[in-house]
Amino acid sequence: MSENFDQAGYWIKRHEDLKDDPRSVGTLAASREKNEEGERELKIVVSQIAKSLADSGAKSVLDLGCGYGRVTSCFLDNGFEYTGVDISPVAIEAAEKAHPSARFIEGNLSELDLQEKFDVVTVLYVFVHFVDDTLWRSFLSAAIDRLKPGGTLVFADFFPGERTATGQHVVSRPFADYIRAFKEEGVVIDDRLREDVKHTGISCSSHFYFAHLDPQAKVETYQGATLANFEMHRQAVEAKRSGNPLFIGEEEFCIEALKLLDALSEKSDPEKISDLIHLVRMIIVRRAAHEGVDLPSELTADGA
Ligand SMILES: C[S@@+](CC[C@H](N)C(=O)[O-])C[C@H]1O[C@@H](n2cnc3c(N)ncnc32)[C@H](O)[C@@H]1O
Repeated sequence: MSENFDQAGYWIKRHEDLKDDPRSVGTLAASREKNEEGERELKIVVSQIAKSLADSGAKSVLDLGCGYGRVTSCFLDNGFEYTGVDISPVAIEAAEKAHPSARFIEGNLSELDLQEKFDVVTVLYVFVHFVDDTLWRSFLSAAIDRLKPGGTLVFADFFPGERTATGQHVVSRPFADYIRAFKEEGVVIDDRLREDVKHTGISCSSHFYFAHLDPQAKVETYQGATLANFEMHRQAVEAKRSGNPLFIGEEEFCIEALKLLDALSEKSDPEKISDLIHLVRMIIVRRAAHEGVDLPSELTADGA
């Protein structure tokens, strides 16, 4: 669909034309009164979600495509530190005015430049406005990337049976497209939270889905990538040092692998690589213990 669609231009104009009007972020085809009613219902649903996430220990939320802050108070009232991002300066100005204790950032979600991670990331009626498939996919990945380990992605949208473009600014994709993308990102859908929310009986509650990073999926990805690196490295060490290409001692393997990790840590994304180092260190140290290999303590200490 329209690669030339001017997302920023469209949304800024819509927020300007519909200032103080819930249709600026709601349903254009419905009346203002219907949209006001929809906003009241949405806030009941999001307040329940915020409460249940706060009860399970979540403290920070990143609201991507926050508009004028329709759901900001739902999180603030439940003790969250709230950060909202939107492309429209008009919406951001209104949001800041209404919620001075929250943090709002004007920015394009396709160029999200945030280093922090959050307990909760919300994407409410926003995925559908990424009409270009490549931008949609990379935004989905960027949203997940802002989650802390164990964090929750909350997203709400319309999922038709087939891909549907109902306007220059809307492409609804079937849920299967999301499932496929989430799987690639190591994210799993949480049906328990969804069932809780559906019990409110409010119609928009059925738009809501919840997903978590699956630690096992990440472990498998890390292990796969890392063991492949080790194997290549092992073969190089073997070829260089050993007269017998079929054998490298367990101890030499572990020491070389730990040195390799230390070298890697200087060149890659520090947050990701430090998780990786921690994980692989555990694998190596356990493997060494299992094999009865006595490793030098300066190499086995975490953070070495
Ligand atoms: C349908 S509204 C939903 C707003 C809000 N999530 C809510 O439920 O009240 C979509 C919002 O996404 C914002 N948006 C669309 N594309 C964006 C982009 N590329 N970067 C940042 N914000 C964007 C729009 O400005 C608009 O406020």
